[in-house]
Amino acid sequence: MGDISKTRKRKMKGIVLAGGTATRLFPMTATTSKQLLPVYDRQMIFYPLNTLIKAGVKDILVIVAPEHSGQFLNLLGSMFKKHGIHITFEVQSTPRGLAEALTLGENHIGDDNVALILGDNIFEDDFAKQIKEFRGGGHVFAKKVTDPERFGVVRFNKENRAMEIVEKPTTWISDYAVTGLYLYDNSCVQIAKNMKPSERGEVEITDVNKAYLKKKQLEVTLFNGEWLDAGTPESLLEASIIVKEKGISRNFHPVLDQAITEFNEELKIRSKKRLQ
Ligand code: G1P
Repeated sequence: MGDISKTRKRKMKGIVLAGGTATRLFPMTATTSKQLLPVYDRQMIFYPLNTLIKAGVKDILVIVAPEHSGQFLNLLGSMFKKHGIHITFEVQSTPRGLAEALTLGENHIGDDNVALILGDNIFEDDFAKQIKEFRGGGHVFAKKVTDPERFGVVRFNKENRAMEIVEKPTTWISDYAVTGLYLYDNSCVQIAKNMKPSERGEVEITDVNKAYLKKKQLEVTLFNGEWLDAGTPESLLEASIIVKEKGISRNFHPVLDQAITEFNEELKIRSKKRLQ
């Protein structure tokens, strides 16, 4: 008998990385996860979930810190079960770097490809086309910023080919930040497994990107729409204002909207019961 796993088309699995301690948002993040804080009228995690759901990703692993796992389960545990979207959870006991999402997600990824998105990254743009059309290698999304030293940064040559990626460069190489959405083929698990922690003691997602770049298999798409990370009180407030102004939460995929509406209805029923 032939091995069907070799011939079947690889699916795109999703991972939302929502672990971490978010010390810059203390004391808010002493009682809840950063990714459960509100950005305008929705919890932060719905924005990256929307990016994946819009692209038809149906199997999504949410990686959470142990102290907040119950809250994530309460919010997302059954919300999508009528909608054909399967959410599972994995606990990241201590955050050891973004690339750990790929090793923690090994079983979830299985033989498939993966779209990894950081739980605090909010994109105005819709990357459904790139996610649906992904065929192999690595694919990242870069945006021009004024403070590149805060990010993983990609340098291009005159033909706009990515030449170099550096995590938090101390000397300027480019203004293009690599944002928190990463599409990888199945080999990313092996790449992540073989990685050593960086000087700051983390397995860096930038090193995964570098490995694909070295193999000449890294595609970089530039985009202009809003990209928000909400890591400080100021950027959290700014994210809320921009999300409201641009109507980003009004533009969620209908499935996500419906799931949230149904969840709200259920909450109303529960609160009525409590008052009886
Ligand atoms: C991380 C990545 C960095 C990337 C950024 C996007 O940085 O290490 O390469 O540009 O996310 O949000 P961190 O938020 O861990 O400083």
